[in-house]
Amino acid sequence: MSTTQGFSDIVIGTQYGDEGKARVVDDKAQNYDIIARFNGGANAGHTIVYKGQKVALKQVPSAVFYPEKQMYVGSGCVINIAKLHHEIEQLKPAGIDLTGRFHLSSQAGVIQPHHILIDAMIGGKVGTTKNGIGPAYADRALRMWDDRLLNIRLGDLLEDREKYFQIMAANSQFIAKTHGLEFDATPEIEQMRQALDHIAPFIEQDTLYLQRQVQNGKTVLFEGAQAFMLDVNKGSVPFVTSSGTTAAAAYTGGDLSPNFHRKTIGIAKALMSRVGHGPFTSEFGGTASEQYCMAQDAEGNSLHSREVEATYNLEQMIASDDPLEVGKALRILSAEYGTVTGRPRRIGALDLVQLAYAVKTNGVNSLVLTKCDLLREYSRTASGKLPLVVAYELDGQRIDFVPGSTQSYARVKPVYEYLDGFSEDISHCRTLEELPNSLLQMIERTEQITGAKVEGLGVGPDREQYVGI
Ligand code: GDP
Ligand code: IMO
Ligand code: MG
Repeated sequence: MSTTQGFSDIVIGTQYGDEGKARVVDDKAQNYDIIARFNGGANAGHTIVYKGQKVALKQVPSAVFYPEKQMYVGSGCVINIAKLHHEIEQLKPAGIDLTGRFHLSSQAGVIQPHHILIDAMIGGKVGTTKNGIGPAYADRALRMWDDRLLNIRLGDLLEDREKYFQIMAANSQFIAKTHGLEFDATPEIEQMRQALDHIAPFIEQDTLYLQRQVQNGKTVLFEGAQAFMLDVNKGSVPFVTSSGTTAAAAYTGGDLSPNFHRKTIGIAKALMSRVGHGPFTSEFGGTASEQYCMAQDAEGNSLHSREVEATYNLEQMIASDDPLEVGKALRILSAEYGTVTGRPRRIGALDLVQLAYAVKTNGVNSLVLTKCDLLREYSRTASGKLPLVVAYELDGQRIDFVPGSTQSYARVKPVYEYLDGFSEDISHCRTLEELPNSLLQMIERTEQITGAKVEGLGVGPDREQYVGI
């Protein structure tokens, strides 16, 4: 191969999502030519903050602040066309224009009205984002129903949009009839028809687009969506998303050969969170917290939204000896509510056993630990200590791995190690020397247990609030 060819690196979430991947990608993007997505769709939200300007992205890669960077969305993604158009329009007042620098694989799937309908019907037990993600990937695998195409892709719409909109309408009718529902997809399809006029120019027919760019010397940063523990195969099945979220998935859904791979950077939250149901070993308050966070009214609105929790007595909760109350306080202090759904995120201590599983399975070369600024809040708890999960106990036996059975994983008890808490505000720190000793110890334990180097710490949401190591 030519010596002028480029390479690709990958950023993935190592826990349950919302690790701060977008803020890390926004920072690292300056060193690459193309920022590419390889999985997921509008299920997720990704926040970047630069010089006080805040943008919440869903389907567009986190390179919007760099007018000279190209962005690519690969075949592994499932696109909600109307939402994508809306997102692109919403970026315009901030002076962000994607013309000429945004490319969508024609092999990416299209979210159809019946996907969202089915997700609303059956996604409750998993606690999905109700964006039709699971049904869209299921239709991809099902391919066709008799002669009716289920797996409609962007390229199909480019080819003959009316033909495929008719098939979408038929798919919806079939599902509605099967389930005895009144459902007419006409308004949704009309919305898609209008949005497609704006989206069509971004659709890339050349299946070797990214390959050619890298062969010609361009460098790619893959931006994972969701996270390793939400992977459809390796995560806490069935409480997962429906796409491949591992580093390896970048080279299927991202439309580039693995020959160009250079390194994988894993993002982990120093104060963990999870949205939706499923095991979460280090959760403050355990299953009581899971139930509390997932509680909804009859319309599906969260009972414990940000607004409701804002009325609680924070000082009393954080000093409580009830971990459920401590978790609530830490959520309020760290503003952990879903970007897309507004649901309260479940909160837990940094789990190094789970992180080691992610590091080893994905070949993570280095880690960025985000939200380290929030660890000071532990100093206000009754013990004042900073907890780390360093091992598990399964049915009385000490183990150092994530069990493959989700039922077993739900029974696992965390084994904690405690570091001294610190109360100082570290959000202005930019060097390792300025950080409290317990953070240095946390880095050391993380490296020992996971085997990956810690390359940086997030000390606030802004791009600049970062300590490189
Ligand atoms: P993503 O889905 O992994 O890109 O993460 P999200 O954007 O959904 O969620 C991460 C949240 O944490 C966002 O609100 C970020 O602005 C915020 N965030 C990221 N890094 C840090 C950090 O180091 N400190 C603090 N306080 N907030 C952070
Ligand atoms: P980012 O990219 C956190 C969770 C949902 C649910 C499960 C399945 O922001 O890190 P889905 O709608 O995908 O079928 O839902 O996965 N989930 C996420 N949790 N961050 C995300 O993405 C998520 N995307 C999906 O809450 O439990
Ligand atoms: Mg997110």
